[in-house]
Amino acid sequence: MILPHAIQEVKDAARVEDVVGEFVALKRKGPRFLGLCPFHNEKTPSFNVSPQLGIYKCFGCGEAGDSITFLTKHEHLSYVEAIKWLGKRYNIDLPEEEQSAEQELEQSERESLAVVQTWAQQWSTDQLWNTEEGRNIALSYFRERGFTEATIKEFQLGYVPERGNQFAAAALAHGFKAELLDKAGWIKRRDDGTPWDFFAGRVTFPIHGLSGQVIGFGARTLKSDKKLPKYFNSPESLLYVKSRSLYGIFQAKKVIASTELCYLVEGYTDVISLHQAGITNVVASSGTSLTEDQVRLIKRYAPTVCILYDGDAAGMKASLRGIDLVLREGLNVKVVTFPEGEDPDSFAKSHSSSELTAHLTEKAQDFIVFKAGLLMADSGDDPVKKAGAIHEIVESVALVPDMVLRSLYIKQCSRLLEVNEQALLSEMNKVLRKQYRKKQGGRADHGKIPERGR
Ligand code: UTP
Ligand code: MN
Repeated sequence: MILPHAIQEVKDAARVEDVVGEFVALKRKGPRFLGLCPFHNEKTPSFNVSPQLGIYKCFGCGEAGDSITFLTKHEHLSYVEAIKWLGKRYNIDLPEEEQSAEQELEQSERESLAVVQTWAQQWSTDQLWNTEEGRNIALSYFRERGFTEATIKEFQLGYVPERGNQFAAAALAHGFKAELLDKAGWIKRRDDGTPWDFFAGRVTFPIHGLSGQVIGFGARTLKSDKKLPKYFNSPESLLYVKSRSLYGIFQAKKVIASTELCYLVEGYTDVISLHQAGITNVVASSGTSLTEDQVRLIKRYAPTVCILYDGDAAGMKASLRGIDLVLREGLNVKVVTFPEGEDPDSFAKSHSSSELTAHLTEKAQDFIVFKAGLLMADSGDDPVKKAGAIHEIVESVALVPDMVLRSLYIKQCSRLLEVNEQALLSEMNKVLRKQYRKKQGGRADHGKIPERGR
């Protein structure tokens, strides 16, 4: 908790024209400043900033507020994050209310891990560009994959030399404790305590938090030996909580917000290739199915997620259930599939940017429609299977929180599945009642919905 007097100090120091001016080009007009509104599209400036009043207001779209509101809306920071941002900007110490001993230890461990990961990123990037082994083996690998220098730099890719446990040697010499390096996932220790480099001979993909802090790594082998795990990943730690992180979010968040759309892919390289091809609102779940926290993270920036699947039917079906979670959070879900054997990375490489963009827009299907098609194709003419499929689709529709949207889906499914709309509706209402009862379950006997026909 930041202490109230410190918050006041920050508020007093923050000059609205400076804060807004970091993100919007402002011109002085008498006592005010004027610029193009960052919250809506406009060609003539109607975005006013008043230093006297400490506020901004757009006469085009009505957005208004002070420095803190601006940071929360424009940078998608929380209130506390906005205060901290301003504290940094104006060099104001933000003493926090006393923490428990345990909280203090956790915080200091998180901060130490952050220092290690930042240092490790710089070290591995330096190995990539400035050593012979790095250039010959790793940089040439990235180039062969078609990554440009700008891309390699933007994503802060790196390399760890194959032999001699050079990372461990350099990090220990730099003064990091072996235990910390171990927790950060960079070294393992033999029984006698001697450290070895966990990522030796691999190229590294740093994973960033929302603010750009490196929190973990994926490290890909350069060998084609199928028995080796393709990627090693940093372990969970106080800094890196996998279920709350999305690869690429730091590089993508602005465009996700401005396009109101987030593309979701599976792998590190899919994110990077799409980004290079001009699709920059893209993140990866890194091989695992989406978690609730990841979905909420996306929802902070955009109302719609578009999932890009490689052309592998088994994989698609396996993930259908997982997507129900996204529906429950009230995100709109779209799906784009790729031809058999292609993933977004390979597709982006073998097609032009405009072909890629066209594929993403033309092939985007609504998730429920996609699921209905997939399940119906599967059940063929078998009426029992077909009924099962219909039930499953209705269960997905029932998860959509918006009532109007739900009824539109029912209409659409009725056409697609050739089932009477009324039948689908009453099926869905049954599911809704069941869900409702489940929710009320803990609360003994209140809140039952009267149910007819029992
Ligand atoms: P893929 O096997 O599709 O890898 O796994 P990729 O990202 O396309 O990599 P390239 O193109 O073959 O180089 C998708 C994601 O699953 C996770 C990684 O996050 C990877 O990006 N994964 C995969 C692992 O964590 N470990 C593995 O051994 C394999
Ligand atoms: Mn791939």
